[in-house]
Amino acid sequence: MTADSTETGRLAGSIPPARLSKPEVESARRLSLSKPEDADTGGFSPSKPEVESARRLSLSKPEGGVRRGPFRVGDRVQLTDSRGRMNTITLQAKGSFHSHKGRFDHEQLLGQPEGIVITNTEGVEYLALRPLLSDYVLSMPRGAQVIYPKDAGQIVAMADIFPGARVIEAGVGSGGLTLALLRAIGESGELHSIEIRPEFAEVARGNVRTFFGETPDTWRVHLGAFADVANKDFEPSSVDRVVLDMLAPWENLAAAARVLTPGGVFCAYVATTTQLSRLAEDLRVSQCFTEPVAFETMVRTWHLEGLAVRPDHRMIGHTGFLLIARRMAVGVKPPLRRRRPAKGAYPVAADAVAAEAVAAEAGEAAGPGVAGEPGAASGTFSIAASPISADLFSAEFTEDAMEVRPVAERKLRRVLRELGGSDES
Ligand SMILES: C[S@@+](CC[C@H](N)C(=O)[O-])C[C@H]1O[C@@H](n2cnc3c(N)ncnc32)[C@H](O)[C@@H]1O
Repeated sequence: MTADSTETGRLAGSIPPARLSKPEVESARRLSLSKPEDADTGGFSPSKPEVESARRLSLSKPEGGVRRGPFRVGDRVQLTDSRGRMNTITLQAKGSFHSHKGRFDHEQLLGQPEGIVITNTEGVEYLALRPLLSDYVLSMPRGAQVIYPKDAGQIVAMADIFPGARVIEAGVGSGGLTLALLRAIGESGELHSIEIRPEFAEVARGNVRTFFGETPDTWRVHLGAFADVANKDFEPSSVDRVVLDMLAPWENLAAAARVLTPGGVFCAYVATTTQLSRLAEDLRVSQCFTEPVAFETMVRTWHLEGLAVRPDHRMIGHTGFLLIARRMAVGVKPPLRRRRPAKGAYPVAADAVAAEAVAAEAGEAAGPGVAGEPGAASGTFSIAASPISADLFSAEFTEDAMEVRPVAERKLRRVLRELGGSDES
């Protein structure tokens, strides 16, 4: 682990598991029983069993960043007006929410259940709910672009992120995917997030802390390049899942293969078909993984109004592609593909050499070095650049070429300020 990477609790042995403090427990108990006098909350008045169940929920330990029971100080609340416009506030004992159309005091929400409608001084109504993880990811301060919930959900499902899993992700960016991974590994898993840019790691730390209310003790941030950190800080075959979201994941296949346990899942998220293709070819050449599977996720929301039930006119057209492959046992080559690639699919010598033959040659030339791996040399493990991809992709995969918009220094400073201070918007 790098000196900079000491971050969290159970892993670092410092921060105890999430737990409500005594004053929090007392305030939750009071709030769950109280009925604020001035609140215009649509005439909600709970029955006895409702009050009792609210009390129990408000005392429960927040898990996966979810607080339950009646609203209390410190809760993030998403306010939605009649036009669907949203604002997120953090409840404070003496706070108030202002818009150009009136105001209300946070106090009016304290002790009330989620899902009430609150009316401000000018008669504007707001629906009040705690944000879901997907709401939070889309509204949280960000430096780098986040993985959207639709893709994060697929990663959790298709990369089989399970409770108790030991997972490495890189890069961490704004921490969007990190939140979904932390949820999925539960309290007995470990998530190691590797990020090359310290300022992005800082944004991610802020977002994770805000969402979970503290830094989860299952999480550690490592500063540095994925391959360097993975090779230095992790034993071979010690990780269940590796998830990469970066410009050039193919540069990290050797390090991913080294740390993944046999049968472990490699998952990468890339934005363009050229990246996807390059990654798939290099992955085949490495001969350390099963045949890759690639897909994208399109979510089409629907308009639901009386007889006018149809897909919405607008949708998120493109985010990225996911590629999944499993780690082969050390020294075992993936089985030959039954279907040969089409003639001319690869720009290699005339007569289109079968892909498996090309891969075999490349494997020998590459000389990976985990003991037992083809061409093994003791010590370090490396996969040389694939001759296939060298021909296919002579251009450089720069941020410019991929149309990744650089994050302005000024924006990053603003995001970090926002994460350090009040998040009222
Ligand atoms: C698109 S962002 C990741 C976004 C993140 N998955 C999320 O959902 O918020 C890509 C990140 O990868 C980082 N990165 C690029 N190459 C890396 C490498 N070799 N090792 C670690 N991080 C890297 C970048 O600095 C950037 O923060």
